[in-house]
Amino acid sequence: MTRQRLYSGMQPSADSLHAGNYIGALLQWRDMQSTYDAFFSVVDLHAITVPQNPAELREKTRRTAAQYIAAGIEPSKSTLYVQSHVRAHAELAWILSTITGFGEAGRMTQFKDKSSRYGQDSTSVGLFTYPVLMAADILLYQSELVPVGDDQKQHVELTRDLAERFNTRFGTTFTVPEPVIQKDTARIYDLQNPASKMSKSAESEAGVLWLLDDPAKSAKKIMRAVTDTEGSVRFDRGAKPGVSNLMTIYSALAGRDLASIEDEYAGRGYGDFKKDLAELVVAEFGPVRERANALLDDPAELDRLLAVNAAKADAVADATLADVYDRIGLLRRA
Ligand code: TYM
Repeated sequence: MTRQRLYSGMQPSADSLHAGNYIGALLQWRDMQSTYDAFFSVVDLHAITVPQNPAELREKTRRTAAQYIAAGIEPSKSTLYVQSHVRAHAELAWILSTITGFGEAGRMTQFKDKSSRYGQDSTSVGLFTYPVLMAADILLYQSELVPVGDDQKQHVELTRDLAERFNTRFGTTFTVPEPVIQKDTARIYDLQNPASKMSKSAESEAGVLWLLDDPAKSAKKIMRAVTDTEGSVRFDRGAKPGVSNLMTIYSALAGRDLASIEDEYAGRGYGDFKKDLAELVVAEFGPVRERANALLDDPAELDRLLAVNAAKADAVADATLADVYDRIGLLRRA
């Protein structure tokens, strides 16, 4: 039986991924890669929709790939590659942009958030069409499933709409994908500001747990995380957002349900709970950090792995793109 195809990606927009990326996405990817035919990209073309320093972008691209592998994505099992190595992404994005409505793209909440943060004059057209490039990523591989955190759900819905629209106009060409969103961990919040999601572009460092950070620093951030005055380890997203977020992280890393965590810490203060969580985080992230650093010590080998996988991705993507060109009536080069 052929395995279902799965696609996901992350932007190389920081030196390190954070606990939201790790828990909300990478842990799922790792678990799913044995069952599905998985494609995972480092989406450098998405990262340039906001200004990037060229040397740093190259470095962050390698670092992101190294973190995928260090977290357990196996480049011999999954197709792990860099988006810009496969030309078809940019080409299909152009074609899909011609069937995307201006208003439809303008309704994307991530675009509205980012463009209001940067201001209209500093907002690029690329930022506006970003979700169309994401649709191209997914549709090129005829992906059935797209595991993401909940901030990407609207983009996957646009992808579905574009696939259906194209199929209706030009005949069945694309598989219509489904988002896969893990309810409990779809949104990890900032440790200092648990009303906002943990983000690479957070205003303050204190609320973000970086995968590649010095373990002592991460432990300190957990000890200083915002809680409340009630003093009991109890899950209540509305009334106790800080504690609930820490419990979600605990639950994801320890593989335990929230009720058993509540039981264990009943009658004990936040200090014990935070100390144990800090140990869990250090034990989980420490080995990932070591493996990522080891991979980064040999960039030539990392680049070689990425090139082998880009060739695999190219083959699938080129076949879809050729079909698309034919269907929309672009004259074949003789
Ligand atoms: P990016 O790079 O912002 O985030 C990568 C993945 O991490 C998830 N995530 C979170 N999950 C839980 N809590 C958080 N605080 C948190 N922050 C981020 C994101 O939902 C995502 O799954 N547009 C995408 C990248 C992309 C893509 C694709 C994804 C490009 N093409 C095709 C899937 C399929 C993005 O910016 O992710």
